[in-house]
Amino acid sequence: GSNILSVEQFDIDSIQTIFTIADRMQPYARRQKRTKVLDGAILGNLFFEPSTRTRVSFGTAFNLLGGEVRETTGMESSALAKGESLYDTARVLSSYSDVIAMRHPKSGSVAEFAEGSRVPVINGGDGANEHPTQALLDLYTIKKELAYHGHGVDGMHICMMGDLKFGRTVHSLSRLLAMYKDIRFTLISPRELAMPDSVLEVLDQAGHHVTVTDQVSGSSDADIVYQTRIQQERFTTPQEADMYRGKFRLNSEIYTKHYKPNTVIMHPLPRDSRAEANELDNDLNQNPNLAIFRQADNGVLIRMALFALTLGVADQIEKYECDVNW
Ligand code: CP
Repeated sequence: GSNILSVEQFDIDSIQTIFTIADRMQPYARRQKRTKVLDGAILGNLFFEPSTRTRVSFGTAFNLLGGEVRETTGMESSALAKGESLYDTARVLSSYSDVIAMRHPKSGSVAEFAEGSRVPVINGGDGANEHPTQALLDLYTIKKELAYHGHGVDGMHICMMGDLKFGRTVHSLSRLLAMYKDIRFTLISPRELAMPDSVLEVLDQAGHHVTVTDQVSGSSDADIVYQTRIQQERFTTPQEADMYRGKFRLNSEIYTKHYKPNTVIMHPLPRDSRAEANELDNDLNQNPNLAIFRQADNGVLIRMALFALTLGVADQIEKYECDVNW
């Protein structure tokens, strides 16, 4: 098995392989079937930054394949707080585990950790850099949602909105989508929070049509609107984040005014539900185009597929099926 550090390591064929295995994981995630293919294996789930979905879905995915999870949460509860290097931490923890999933607030930290690890390391988000497993579950969701409307990924129009500078999920998703054909990207953000040049260059080189704007109008034929949260934890001061909070909201009224009736609404979550932020309003909760919880559900399938591939058991999952006892 090998590390999963960046979406750059994938191509269309490897993405399709992951998605085909993710499809096969559905009955296990729904508890209709059970497998012990990873019986005895241990996941080191190392989260040095807050997380709900990524941490719990990595753990759940591993448990659903029959493996066990060891978890650390928070920098302050680990020896990193005493000045231990990522390399030493990796050397030690990788001998306790068969695979490691890790989130850390610093860009490049997961790759640095992987240098010292003796087992495969999966990036669960490294600072403002990348969140490759989120991008895979987002693309998997996009494919399913668009297929429902009779479309494919090639030729689609996606509108990304909010904090495109610090939002690692939009960085990884853009790089992944760049591998497809003729995608229209409308990138809506305050000028100061625009998509980094490094990502724009990838889209440009692949020949996609990119519009960078601070206006929400002009997206009326978007197939997807992908909203993001202002990443307050990446700003120097909280006051700086306050300046941008609430600038690019999405609620029923704005959705109806600016988007076509079938535009799929996505958000990596968490959405900031405080009144001053509220970037994705609860008044959209009953809208059938709201795909946010389907994204989160798909996260388990994608992470099961990634573990199965990384640990080389993708073709043995059915062989180790056992009874569902509850
Ligand atoms: N989407 C996502 O990464 O959510 P968490 O921060 O809860 O893991």
